[in-house]
Amino acid sequence: MKCGGINVQTNNNKKTSMKNRTKIALTVALLAGAVSLQADVEALWQKNCASCHGKDGKGQTTMGKKAGARDYTDAAVQASFTDEEAFKATKEGVVKDGKTVMKPYGEKLTDEEIKELVAHIRSFKS
Ligand code: HEC
Repeated sequence: MKCGGINVQTNNNKKTSMKNRTKIALTVALLAGAVSLQADVEALWQKNCASCHGKDGKGQTTMGKKAGARDYTDAAVQASFTDEEAFKATKEGVVKDGKTVMKPYGEKLTDEEIKELVAHIRSFKS
């Protein structure tokens, strides 16, 4: 039947456009996820770390200078610790000369968040 044929044709077109729409929706969702992850680590840094290490990672805040935070835009400073050491420092804190210069964040942040923060620190390197 002619009519049937046309109907089938229309249905096929609908199916294809639905598929494309699903693809687009998926892409948008993935992009939004990536952006929100970025925003989350930025917010975590601002909230927990920037008071000492600075928004820009240079450690040039009042608290950072007092505590002795180092400049994370300096390649030599970046090279002085591994990702594992940075992870451990954030999770367990930093003690210098018997004084806690940075408190541990293991209770406050998840391992995943700490890993993202370490990657964030690496992004300061100029
Ligand atoms: C009270 C100030 C303060 C806060 C808040 C703080 N830090 Fe630190 N952090 C320091 C000091 C001081 C050091 C030791 C610097 C040194 O090694 O001489 C340090 C060291 C580190 C190190 C080890 C590498 C290094 O510089 O020796 C990492 C990694 C680190 N901090 C990450 C973080 C992260 C991530 C946060 C937030 C979750 C944070 N810090 C919050 C003061 C702070």
